[in-house]
Amino acid sequence: MATSNKLMTMFMSLIFLIHIPYFASSDLRTGFYSNTCPKAESIVRNVMKKALIREPRSVASIMRFQFHDCFVNGCDASMLLDDTPTMLGEKLALSNINSLRSFEVIDEVKEALEKACPGIVSCADIIIMASRDAVALTGGPFWKVRLGRLDSLIANQEDSNNIMPSPRANASALINLFQKYNLSVKDLVALSGSHSIGKARCFSIMFRLYNQSGTGKPDPAIDPDYRRELNKLCPLDVDQNVTGNLDATPVVFDNQYFKDLVGGRGFLNSDQTLFTFPETKEFVKLYSMNQSEFFKAFAEGMLKMGDLKSDKLGEVRRNCRVVNHRHSHLLLETLNREGSYM
Ligand code: HEM
Repeated sequence: MATSNKLMTMFMSLIFLIHIPYFASSDLRTGFYSNTCPKAESIVRNVMKKALIREPRSVASIMRFQFHDCFVNGCDASMLLDDTPTMLGEKLALSNINSLRSFEVIDEVKEALEKACPGIVSCADIIIMASRDAVALTGGPFWKVRLGRLDSLIANQEDSNNIMPSPRANASALINLFQKYNLSVKDLVALSGSHSIGKARCFSIMFRLYNQSGTGKPDPAIDPDYRRELNKLCPLDVDQNVTGNLDATPVVFDNQYFKDLVGGRGFLNSDQTLFTFPETKEFVKLYSMNQSEFFKAFAEGMLKMGDLKSDKLGEVRRNCRVVNHRHSHLLLETLNREGSYM
């Protein structure tokens, strides 16, 4: 009887605790896995190296995950969840559908980590480590990442639709969006420098080539020679999945992107607008002339973005695409990790 009372009390306190807001990543720190999975960072790095050799673009595609994950309810790997019969995932959200790619590289990283240290390294942390590696492996800066995130139990397609910016966005809309996350104008410009690597679809630029702001004309900020190149790549009847490079050196992380913006050769409207608006223009000019200033600001921006927290309960997923089944363990896992209850 006493035992069943005790069990009931424990059960009730767990129910109670579930309703308490929980800040899953309040204790992010470097070296989080140094005891529990000492090889975690080198395992991630090795898979990323292989991915880079297999398909250079894939590391850019992975780096983009950090942005699309962290802006939607914090860095919690919610964007990696597949749809289920009861949940629309973020993979099919407006900015992600037919666009986010290379999920299989994250699967490969996760598989290698599960082999080495099962149930320890979260998918949310994998995104953060892999994004850092994507930059470092393509010639950009290296920074120490803070780890210890948990993976979400749900995804939210609607939030992704409402939050993620369109390639049509202008600098003032982007400044406002980034401000909501405590990211400054400097962070916005530096982080946009992520477009130093990777590609985008004609779909994302058709309006600026043929009908900017409903004028029936192209965006006047595009350099005429570059516009001719883009018209060739993306004629009106093109398959809109055809892709073009986001800057002139799409597999090297460097400040070419900013040089291109100064020359009117930015691929997306949301890129070129940074050189049109006075508030952002000075940073574009600075980074186009000084690569190390860009690298420093980029690393700082990625760290700030990586600190965006989820306020929901989490777990360490065993497969990044689906939540674990043993939900009774979640709370204890969460609390254990946080050290706030045990
Ligand atoms: C500032 C607002 C941003 C906007 C409006 C934006 C928009 C876009 C768009 C429209 C594409 C191409 C999608 C397609 O055509 O399929 C793209 C690609 C990309 N974005 Fe952004 N982005 C922004 C910021 C960022 C940030 C902060 C990061 C990472 C830190 C990032 C990383 C990337 C990368 C690496 C690619 C190329 C991916 C690939 O080749 O697969 N972007 N972005």
